[in-house]
Amino acid sequence: MTSGPAAAGAVRPELLAELQQMTPAEQEVLAEVVRRYRAAPPRAGRPSGLAFVQSFLKADPRLPAFQLPPSAAAGPPALCKRFPGRRQVRLPNAAPPIAAGLQDVLEKRRSSRDFGDTAMPLPALADLLHASYGVREFERAYDVRDFPFRYAPSAGGLQPIDLYVVANDVESLAQGLYYHDAVAGALTLLDEGNLRRRMSRCTLGPPWVAHAHAVLVLVCNLARVCWKYGDRGYRLAHVDAGVLAQNLYLVGTALDLNTCAVAGFHDDAVHELLDVDGGDESVVLLFAVGSRPADTTRRGGSR
Ligand SMILES: Cc1cc2nc3c(=O)[nH]c(=O)nc-3n(C[C@H](O)[C@H](O)[C@H](O)COP(=O)(O)O)c2cc1C
Repeated sequence: MTSGPAAAGAVRPELLAELQQMTPAEQEVLAEVVRRYRAAPPRAGRPSGLAFVQSFLKADPRLPAFQLPPSAAAGPPALCKRFPGRRQVRLPNAAPPIAAGLQDVLEKRRSSRDFGDTAMPLPALADLLHASYGVREFERAYDVRDFPFRYAPSAGGLQPIDLYVVANDVESLAQGLYYHDAVAGALTLLDEGNLRRRMSRCTLGPPWVAHAHAVLVLVCNLARVCWKYGDRGYRLAHVDAGVLAQNLYLVGTALDLNTCAVAGFHDDAVHELLDVDGGDESVVLLFAVGSRPADTTRRGGSR
């Protein structure tokens, strides 16, 4: 890239037109993206959107030293969303649900896209949520006396992934959209009704996801992790989602459930379904789960 007056003269007209339409706030963001890219570009390769993103999010001695963002002074944001006035369904108290050995579970785990014809029991869903992402213990952290630590590790313990549950066919649980409130050990009902059709409009490819007994939606809540790590928190949140997905796979396998991660979704259709903004809160992954079909030869399905 060139710089100085000659570079200004070389700006492509369509870019200039875009820049002239940008608000001051948008220009500030763009200037920061370009500044970070030029301060620490990739070692080789052509500029690309991803190279800009990567430079923007990396820690690099050529960039200004990492500092806690000003928001960090105020204490961590709440780790669970609350929806005042919404009905909560308490999840049945989970006894330690996993008897299987780790090696056995690792051998058996696979992505299965086929689900049984009868409803999934609520305790199975409760056990899956609890053992994968429930609260393991409360301990003092960040000057908070009862800070929840959960079964999945998380950068800084800040748990930026929120879990929503689309219940399609779970015994004793009305069909609808729920938020998993891990601290309360409950599901908060956000929208009641049969959401299968809307879910199938959210997904790409074959319609098997809408046939799952439940679809978990992993949503990244950036405020929680960027509070401590600034923009780099974006990367950490996605690692956290992967860690949680593996917990869900392994616990699901141990509970004899069929499970499959799903990256094939229309982002904004999911945001609309959940009523999240798609910026500070955005979908990372879907996770289909359900009881196994009685006929165990029905397995797999198309990707
Ligand atoms: C992040 C992630 C996204 C995935 N997305 C999809 C998907 O959109 N559709 C699908 O059918 N399988 C999806 N899968 C499942 C993979 O296809 C599967 O893990 C892979 O084929 C290996 O098979 P296994 O899980 O049985 O070992 C996804 C898995 C992961 C980890």
